[in-house]
Amino acid sequence: MNISVLDFTQQSVVVTGGATGIGESCARLFARRGATVTVMDIDAKGAERVTTAIREEGGDACCSVVDLTDWSATRAALEECHGRTQRLDVVVHSAGGFPRYVSLMECPVETWDGVVDSNLKSMFHLLKAAVPLMIPAGYGRFVTLSSMAVRGSTIVSAPHYAAAKAGVLGLTRQAARVLGPHGITVNAVAPGSVKTPRTNAMRTPEATRRIEQNTPLGRLCEPEEVAWPILFLCSREASYITGVTLDVNGGGAMS
Ligand SMILES: NC(=O)c1ccc[n+]([C@@H]2O[C@H](COP(=O)([O-])OP(=O)(O)OC[C@H]3O[C@@H](n4cnc5c(N)ncnc54)[C@H](O)[C@@H]3O)[C@@H](O)[C@H]2O)c1
Repeated sequence: MNISVLDFTQQSVVVTGGATGIGESCARLFARRGATVTVMDIDAKGAERVTTAIREEGGDACCSVVDLTDWSATRAALEECHGRTQRLDVVVHSAGGFPRYVSLMECPVETWDGVVDSNLKSMFHLLKAAVPLMIPAGYGRFVTLSSMAVRGSTIVSAPHYAAAKAGVLGLTRQAARVLGPHGITVNAVAPGSVKTPRTNAMRTPEATRRIEQNTPLGRLCEPEEVAWPILFLCSREASYITGVTLDVNGGGAMS
């Protein structure tokens, strides 16, 4: 008997933030599982690097350079992807993050806007652009990245990020309700501390030790350990799951 799970053969998958970290890991795994992958990112060099790496492995990928805080550019990028692959099955929204810690009262208004826009407004733009392309097929998977920062544990000094990632959960539930009748599921994944280039650079050795001590599994997360659960939520097998937040945090926060 030939049973193939997490098979994305002939599916068109967009991964935002695919130039690095969790997004890069997702893009590579989707390609290995048969998908045509669009690596979508504002970072042209990073997106090109990941696309080339996937092709060298024999996968099917192309890159799309776009600022997801720009509505017209986001819509054009999604339409271009759909025109190229003639379908759109999956969107994983991993673009976002925050550049540095800042306290609530010292957070400049522009910094607040930048973080909220790149994490939350971008998700709205993506939904608004992708859903009309999915509805005619009666099928779609949308998975977005939230954070343990808003799952019963508090990262101090990232108020913009915590607000944006809480907003992501609200929008996930709204979208799941509205899009369910169209066969489109919408879910969120909330990672703990993942070893990605950006967060590795932000963490001091003391902070790493503190996280390890407060995590029942006793270590930080590898990017692939978040990517595999994301692939599951994007698979045909996850057909009855929508509106959930999947915690991938080594037990660091339990709800
Ligand atoms: N790394 C962690 O520990 C961790 C923990 C919890 C949640 N997350 C979330 O997971 C996601 C991925 O995090 P990461 O650390 O792997 O990567 P990251 O945050 O370093 O990279 C995100 C990518 O998004 C891209 N990006 C940012 N703004 C963009 C925009 N306006 N338009 C297009 N692309 C844009 C960047 O160029 C980058 O390639 C983020 O949403 C982050 O908030 C990460």
